[in-house]
Amino acid sequence: METIDNVAELRSRLAVERGAGNTIGFVPTMGYLHAGHVSLIDAAVASNDLTVVSIFVNPLQFGAGEDLDSYPVDIERDLAACADARADLVFMPSVSEMYPPGMTTTVTVGGVSKPLEGQSRPTHFAGVATVVAKLFSIVGPCRAYFGAKDWQQVTVVRRMTADLSLPVEVISCPIVREADGLALSSRNVYLSPEERRQAPVLRRALLAGIELVEAGVTDHSVIETEMARVISTAPLAQLDYAAAVPADSLVADGPLRGEVRLLLAVRFGGARLIDNAGCRTVES
Ligand code: PAJ
Repeated sequence: METIDNVAELRSRLAVERGAGNTIGFVPTMGYLHAGHVSLIDAAVASNDLTVVSIFVNPLQFGAGEDLDSYPVDIERDLAACADARADLVFMPSVSEMYPPGMTTTVTVGGVSKPLEGQSRPTHFAGVATVVAKLFSIVGPCRAYFGAKDWQQVTVVRRMTADLSLPVEVISCPIVREADGLALSSRNVYLSPEERRQAPVLRRALLAGIELVEAGVTDHSVIETEMARVISTAPLAQLDYAAAVPADSLVADGPLRGEVRLLLAVRFGGARLIDNAGCRTVES
C-alpha cells in the first residue's frame, strides 16, 4: 500500500492507472478508522481495480467551538486498517496542501443542506461539499463510497455531484453498529462509560419511530414526539432534533408518503451523536 501527501504526485500516479484502463474507487474519511469506514473500503475493493482512501481532518466543516482541535487521530492504526482492508493507496494531505493560501472558492449546496444538521451546524455542509468536490477533482474516481450513517451528508454529496455534473457514481453503504445498536463513530470515544451505556437509546428511538410508520402513522410530528420521548428516557441525553421526513427532500410538508427517513441528533455531555433509519409508509 502506498501513501501520498502531495496533490501533484497523487494526480500523476492516478493518471497512469486511468491510462491503463483501471477503475478507481474512492473512500473519503477523516481518519480514526473503525469498522464502518472499513465496510466502505471493502465495498470499494470489491468493485474497482484500485481503491484510494483519503484521511484528512477537514477544518472547513467544523464550526467555531466544535471539536476540530480534539478530533481523535491515530495514523498508524489507520494505515494498518487500510492495509488490512487491501486499500491500494492512502492520500493524507496537510491542511496547506488542500487549502493553499489565498483560496476563496467554496461550494454551497442549497435545499437538502439547509434543514437538520444545516440548522444546528450552519457552515458544516459547505465545508463538506468543498472538500469532497476538491477530493473528487484530485482523485478522479469512477465511484465514491459514503456511509448512510451520515444520511444528510450523502444526500448533499449526491445533489452536488448531479448539480456540478461530476463524473462520479456516489454509492451509499449501510450503517455499521455495535452489538447494542450504537452506530460506530470516531466520536464515540468522547463518551464516558455511563454515557456509552445510555447511547443505544438513539437506536431504540429510531426503532420506535419505524414501528409507528409501519403501523400506518403518517403525521411526522407524532413520530417525532415519540422518538423524542424515547430519547428522554436516557437521563444524560439532550435532544438536538428528532425528524421524520421524506428520504429525498429531508423536509416534511404534509403527511408522509413513500420512502421516509428518521433522523436524530443527541448530545451526551461533550459528544454529539447522529443516527438515522429508513422505512416506507404502508399505503404506498
Ligand atoms: P468520517 O466521519 O471519517 O466518515 C467517513 C465515511 O465513513 C463517511 O461516508 C461516513 O458516513 C462513513 N461512516 C462513519 N461511520 C459509519 C458507520 N457506523 N457505518 C457506515 N459508514 C460510516 O464523513 C466524513 O468523515 C467527512 O465528512 C468526509 C466525507 C470525509 C468529508 O470531510
